[in-house]
Amino acid sequence: MTADGLRKKYLEFFVSKGHAVIPGASLIPEHDPSVLFTTAGMHPLVPFLLGEKHPAGKRITNIQKCVRTDDIDEVGDFIHHTFFEMMGSWSLGDYFKKEIIEWSYEFMTSSQWLGLEPQNLGVSVFEGDSDAPVDQEAYEAWRALGIPEKRIAKLPKKANWWGPAGITGPCGPDTEMFYWTGDDSAVPVEFDPEDVRWVEIGNDVFMQYNKTAQGSYELLEQKNVDVGWGLDRMLAVTNGYYDDYKTEQFAPIIEEIERLSGKVYQSTQQEDDYAIRVIADHIRAAAFLLAEKLEPSNTEQGYILRRLIRRAVRYGRQIGIKDVFLGTLADVVAKKYGQVYPELRDSFDFIQERIAREEEKFGKTLGKGLIEANKIKEQNLAAGLESGHVTGAQASTLYQSYGFPKEMIKEEFSDFDEEEFEKELKKHQELSRAGSGQKFKGGLADHSEQTTKYHTATHLLQAALRQILGKHVRQMGSNITAERMRFDFSHPGDITYDQIKAVEALVNEKIKKDLPVQKQEMSNKEADQSGVLSVPRVVYGALVSVYSVTDGDIVFSKEKCGGPHVSRTRELGEFKIVKLESIGQGIKRIKAVLV
Ligand code: SER
Repeated sequence: MTADGLRKKYLEFFVSKGHAVIPGASLIPEHDPSVLFTTAGMHPLVPFLLGEKHPAGKRITNIQKCVRTDDIDEVGDFIHHTFFEMMGSWSLGDYFKKEIIEWSYEFMTSSQWLGLEPQNLGVSVFEGDSDAPVDQEAYEAWRALGIPEKRIAKLPKKANWWGPAGITGPCGPDTEMFYWTGDDSAVPVEFDPEDVRWVEIGNDVFMQYNKTAQGSYELLEQKNVDVGWGLDRMLAVTNGYYDDYKTEQFAPIIEEIERLSGKVYQSTQQEDDYAIRVIADHIRAAAFLLAEKLEPSNTEQGYILRRLIRRAVRYGRQIGIKDVFLGTLADVVAKKYGQVYPELRDSFDFIQERIAREEEKFGKTLGKGLIEANKIKEQNLAAGLESGHVTGAQASTLYQSYGFPKEMIKEEFSDFDEEEFEKELKKHQELSRAGSGQKFKGGLADHSEQTTKYHTATHLLQAALRQILGKHVRQMGSNITAERMRFDFSHPGDITYDQIKAVEALVNEKIKKDLPVQKQEMSNKEADQSGVLSVPRVVYGALVSVYSVTDGDIVFSKEKCGGPHVSRTRELGEFKIVKLESIGQGIKRIKAVLV
């Protein structure tokens, strides 16, 4: 089975069960500031899980690019990844537990589909607590398919409850599917979720609750199913591997790391293999994030990207790679995935340029850290201590202020008190968490209200830019937090101060007029024929929602969009452009706020 074969088979299966294929969304959530990345296929679908009508219907399926950083410390084992593709399907108030469990079983075991061994399957269901009862229905459905009692684990919320993706939103009990990847002739009678040889390959979530800002679970009117299968893991088990990094998804990346380092990947728990996996994972994630024009930085998403790149460099040094190497690896990623994800090719120059810059910068950081490390050694000697000694506080300064990785501290100082170091670090983290908590002071309701406003402002801004600069202006990217909006658009030449002021004034004029924001549903074709704006490179379903703002007889803005939006423009307040910059290749970026 190839990755492409699996992608096709998956979609084909769910299409055969009446699902419409919808495009995947961006890795960087456009309208949800409570999470940094799209962490699951359900994430862009939250409004529809909460009851909004999806233009593609009640049964949908897709393959969604995801980045999860809460697993970052687990990356390095055989089955965790920061970036991965999730094969997902949803019932939006249509079928429920019995159907999806039967289909999951059919997809996994039927020889027409994946042909996995039923004897190697284990499953888990929710054991129940004060928020929701034991999931007897899921249990019975698995039993009816012949899964033995001993292969069904009943587990608590910590293990068998999924969501919400952010802080509030749709969630519910789930049933997870595991496959035995150990010795085939010794499949245990009992499914033991603690044994890592049982690998989770899929998850059916019964999203029937909404978690509120107060932390309670309310029953949703609409009962949904949210299915997710990790492509890398599924590809590994269908090919008989216990290690995702043995699959063709990683093979060319690993071959290149082998060439650069002179090491041979042996699929073990040894240090070198661990480092190779971390590098392979991180470069893939970094390339996909850069492909969406994310800038490495010291805050939020950009910081994670920077960390991924730095960790990859650090592990590269550990296995003996001396020269800059990440650009070469990113090139391999683009070649491997560019057919399915053309953004990797389209953003090729951006990816290469940013990686080269980051790698060089980090080289310098390491240099500065080494100088500081040497100072500590000299001080120690002068104080009559061993030069290999480092206190927790000194190590924490090296780590926090100089970006010097922990592993390198260990290498530099033979007498390194890790426990004391971790304690110091925790103190700092608590401080910074208290700081970032401030940001959410406004409360969650305000949060989503604010992002909705920014969403509408984005439409007004694009319309104003097209009116002032010309019809060549198109949205190339958009990112919204509760504090500001960012909008990238195509425009080759310079933009004058007067033009920017005119754009700002035009948006404010439309806001002051308190125009209604109207939503219509129409076929994608009809929308195109009537000149409705779409976002380049986004593939739309047959039926689309269109939002428009009309001023008298003139249609000011009309865009295909999933929403949500405010109902009248005056709700936005005052619009202010705070920054204009060029991000290269004829693309400009505007940062704006509503005050
Ligand atoms: N949202 C669930 C998960 O990520 C299923 O798609 O596991």
